[in-house]
Amino acid sequence: MRILLVGGGGREHALAWKIAQSPLVEHLWAAPGNPGIAKHARCLDLAVDDVDGLAGFATGHDVDLVVVGPEAPLVAGLADSLRAHGLAVFGPSKAAAAIEGSKAFAKDLMARHGIPTARFATHTDPAVARRYCRELGAPLVVKTDGLAAGKGAIVCRTLEEADEAIAQCLERRAFGASGATVVVEEFLHGPEVSYFVLVSGRQAIPVDAAQDHKTIFDDDRGPNTGGMGALAPVAAFDAAMQARVTASIVEPTIRALADEGAPYQGALYVGLMLTKEGPKVVEFNCRFGDPECQVLMVRMQDDLVPLLGAVARAERLPSPKPWNATGRPAVCVNVASPGYPGPYPTGAEITGLVDASAIPGVEVFQAGTARRDGRLVTAGGRVLGVTAVADDLAAAIAAAYEGVRRIHFEGMQYRTDIGRRALGEAGGR
Ligand code: AMP
Ligand code: GLY
Repeated sequence: MRILLVGGGGREHALAWKIAQSPLVEHLWAAPGNPGIAKHARCLDLAVDDVDGLAGFATGHDVDLVVVGPEAPLVAGLADSLRAHGLAVFGPSKAAAAIEGSKAFAKDLMARHGIPTARFATHTDPAVARRYCRELGAPLVVKTDGLAAGKGAIVCRTLEEADEAIAQCLERRAFGASGATVVVEEFLHGPEVSYFVLVSGRQAIPVDAAQDHKTIFDDDRGPNTGGMGALAPVAAFDAAMQARVTASIVEPTIRALADEGAPYQGALYVGLMLTKEGPKVVEFNCRFGDPECQVLMVRMQDDLVPLLGAVARAERLPSPKPWNATGRPAVCVNVASPGYPGPYPTGAEITGLVDASAIPGVEVFQAGTARRDGRLVTAGGRVLGVTAVADDLAAAIAAAYEGVRRIHFEGMQYRTDIGRRALGEAGGR
């Protein structure tokens, strides 16, 4: 098969690494890719939002399958444009991707279909929004309606913080048009889980659950990021919980989208809080999570390509157990630029990748990197994901951090507690 992968972050490096292992692959291109992806694919000088360029390349090179990694081009309608050229695409239409592209759309869909989620209201008027905050009481969460690179959910511990978040979004327009409408919602307590399913129209197949570490600092302190580390599997997400989530959330959601004329085709990320009253939706995303995808890929035992192809061609997915994950746990530690998730410098030389990758079970997936004058340099907020799979969680954590210790660039920052809480709950194993 001739495959084009769209994207150039850690998620896409993990996908490229896995796709390239398939004996079915004849050619793999990535647009734009990155220096890590370049080890598995030919990287093209095409941006993820260059719809005409991507369609032209794919039709001109007889591409059999386009796999779209990131949300922004999906929300903008890339999959629709590619399908209009007769291409098979793994990734939802613009209408279905609105489940991530507009929090208000997602929340209204859940409300209409009785899907459990936090109590909420949608606002554009700051005074009315502040009144609603007083009705809800703190803590609460203020979210930009549109995409904000993982930074659009502001958790407010007090009403003063909520007032400030509303001012930031609705008055100072710190998030531009994305934040001109906000969703204000109740704060949910409980372990947070990222659950993934592949959806082909009305059919869903379970993939795997992972746990992200969202904030920049240890012990869940500081502002939210795109994700600073991940692990899988998640002990709290057992078979009974999976069955409950399938029946109360996944099935009604994919039915609702199909019934409303937006059948889903791709990976659906179900962000959950396992509250005392049961699992509730924190958010939906229209793609694999990052860094979650890195731990999913190193645990996946089978060939990924037939699954991606079946979804892209809207075929019935093979069953009963089409996604076969190893029982071995995996951990990913993200290494970020200094200052992230705020402004950060780029161009710092990165060393030690070869040494880190030499550790058994460790893969270093590149996210914000570039090659300059033959040297590997930083080029983004999240720079690398050091991902390890091992016989138990303690060993996976140790291997990932050993990898991190072998890597260096100026000002690198990472959390030192990825997996620590899960390890405590598992009694040290
Ligand atoms: P989102 O942008 O919706 O993905 O939210 C980012 C992160 O903010 C989530 O992964 C949670 O950790 C946190 N968060 C969002 N909504 C809530 C909520 N209602 N209650 C508690 N935490 C939340
Ligand atoms: N790790 C969170 C996300 O991909 O949205």
